[in-house]
Amino acid sequence: MHRVVCPGSFDPVTNGHLDIIRRAALLHDEVLVVVGANRAKHGMFTVDERVAMLEEVTKDLSNVSVGTFRGLLVEYCRARGVSAIVKGLRAVSDFEYEMEMAQMNYRLAGIETLFMTANPLYSFLRSSLVREIAAYGGNVAALVPPAVEAQLRVKLGSPGTG
Ligand code: PNS
Repeated sequence: MHRVVCPGSFDPVTNGHLDIIRRAALLHDEVLVVVGANRAKHGMFTVDERVAMLEEVTKDLSNVSVGTFRGLLVEYCRARGVSAIVKGLRAVSDFEYEMEMAQMNYRLAGIETLFMTANPLYSFLRSSLVREIAAYGGNVAALVPPAVEAQLRVKLGSPGTG
């Protein structure tokens, strides 16, 4: 059983995340999508809300499950028999940070990181921009799954379509 994790803040999950999760699910036996809870209280959505949205948007993927982790990601990986971390790379700007984390995680626990290049359709997409656009009434329908768009409306108290 080849089990990988897709870790992230997912505040909220975007179409870019979902693209990586779907592609990872085609390549690996089991994909654990895990929300990092260390600093989650500073975000827009609670950890439970992020998990609920991820569960909703991955419900058609039978080898994907959703969870949370606290503390070091490599400890979670060790405890769950995870063989690799899967990350999406959008642009060169992601590379330095991601490479540092990948090398540190390997140094800490021998856990490999596999990078997948982002779909160019989503290479400009990140959760913080989605939150900002939604907060100012912009239309995020093409950026996030419909269930997430609905939750953004609930959170921001806006009934319209933006
Ligand atoms: O969506 P993000 O913000 O890029 O997710 C980053 C996350 C949660 C995957 C990363 O910060 C993480 O793994 N945090 C857990 C703490 C940890 O293991 N730190 C050492 C990394 S070398």
